[in-house]
Amino acid sequence: MEAARWSPSCFNAQPWRLYTSTGATFDEYLNLLVEGNQAWAKDTSVIGFMVAERHFEHNGKPNAYAEFDCGAAWMALTLQARKEGLYTHGMGGILKPEITDYLKLDPARHEVVMGFTIGKLADLSNLSDEKRNEEVPNSRKSLDEIWFR
Ligand SMILES: Cc1cc2nc3c(=O)[nH]c(=O)nc-3n(C[C@H](O)[C@H](O)[C@H](O)COP(=O)(O)O)c2cc1C
Repeated sequence: MEAARWSPSCFNAQPWRLYTSTGATFDEYLNLLVEGNQAWAKDTSVIGFMVAERHFEHNGKPNAYAEFDCGAAWMALTLQARKEGLYTHGMGGILKPEITDYLKLDPARHEVVMGFTIGKLADLSNLSDEKRNEEVPNSRKSLDEIWFR
């Protein structure tokens, strides 16, 4: 969370708000994920939600970069976790309206951007065949497909 806190942001607005489960609320957070994600996330240590503050504090205008900046904060959190021997896993498969209610967010002010887990890397044998096939191979587009000089 400290790494996320130091992320760069448009106008230094720092629009990220991070909500994470505790031991007592873990199951409640788990129930805010789609079923496919609950199947593996039940074994993680922490479930979190990244929430964006939609407007700039200094002038009240919509912040078009709020979600982008939350992405930067998510990556900072991820890299810091990795440095500490932990792993993160992003999740789009989350129940946004239910999360908004559960966290008592104001939809006019707050956007639920994504969910994430933090935990230790488990053995692939823990996964269903379907999920294991999604993990390997773990590839990326070639540089030529994404970089235009
Ligand atoms: C914003 C975001 C949403 C994602 N949503 C899901 C999800 O709902 N369920 C899931 O199993 N993985 C999800 N992922 C994980 C991606 O599928 C994964 O990062 C990608 O396949 C690359 O694999 P890697 O992170 O292991 O390198 C998500 C990742 C991000 C960044």
